Amino acid sequence: MLEVTNVRVSYEGVLALSDVSLKVEPGRIVALVGGNGNGKSTTLRAVAGLNPLDAGSIRFNGQPVHALPAHKRVPLGISLVPEGRRLFPKLTVRRNLELGAYTRDSDDEVAQSVDQMFELFPILKERATQLAGTMSGGEQQMLAIARGLMAKPKLLMLDEPSWGIAPKFVTKVLDVIQRVNETGVAILLVEQNLHKALAIAHDGYVIQTGRIVMNGAANALLHDEEVKKAYLGL
Ligand SMILES: Nc1ncnc2c1ncn2[C@@H]1O[C@H](COP(=O)(O)OP(=O)(O)OP(=O)(O)O)[C@@H](O)[C@H]1O
Ligand SMILES: [Mg+2]
Repeated sequence: MLEVTNVRVSYEGVLALSDVSLKVEPGRIVALVGGNGNGKSTTLRAVAGLNPLDAGSIRFNGQPVHALPAHKRVPLGISLVPEGRRLFPKLTVRRNLELGAYTRDSDDEVAQSVDQMFELFPILKERATQLAGTMSGGEQQMLAIARGLMAKPKLLMLDEPSWGIAPKFVTKVLDVIQRVNETGVAILLVEQNLHKALAIAHDGYVIQTGRIVMNGAANALLHDEEVKKAYLGL
């Protein structure tokens, strides 16, 4: 479904990704793990169309997408829940959801999708008229995920969904990600926390200074001594 091949990205001449290749097959949860500043967010942003490539290619369902602007990738089925959530804090929960459907034009369809999100996330239904910025970190993350789903993605990318969330909420967020995956949406999950991410993923990649240094079945990576060493050495 998603094929990232030999991707290189730099910020004002400074290399952030030197050689990233990874694949997400339909129906899978793929974890991309690595420590601070190793290029996780840059990888997701490159797939979403927010960082231009210096080299390499990105294909989605066989079609090259790396030359398309971000807003043309969304209708193809690529959706990013960004680092730090980026909600509209002064708007209601419902309005934040509606804005997640900006690439779709039928009001009826959007209203139907909001109802679907309320089914999947009952807490958001209870809080429909609450301002997003007044909710807890965990609730805001639920809203950010739901907003990402409003675009009806085939691939949902999540950038550190457990960031800034109370530990008891982290499990809930991971459960939600698994439930979303069970509805047929492929997931590319970025996490600093190796254990949390690999525990729910099917496949995993370890990124170190802009390069994929290891990949394989998530379960195997979770128990691999080399991964632990590479990871601790970051
Ligand atoms: N807007 C930017 N301008 C310049 N350099 C940037 C920018 N964004 C990221 N970088 C640099 O690119 C490299 C990769 O950053 P990136 O944000 O992708 O890492 P990350 O793995 O997501 O880290 P974290 O775990 O802290 O979120 C880092 O060296 C970072 O300083
Ligand atoms: Mg990041």
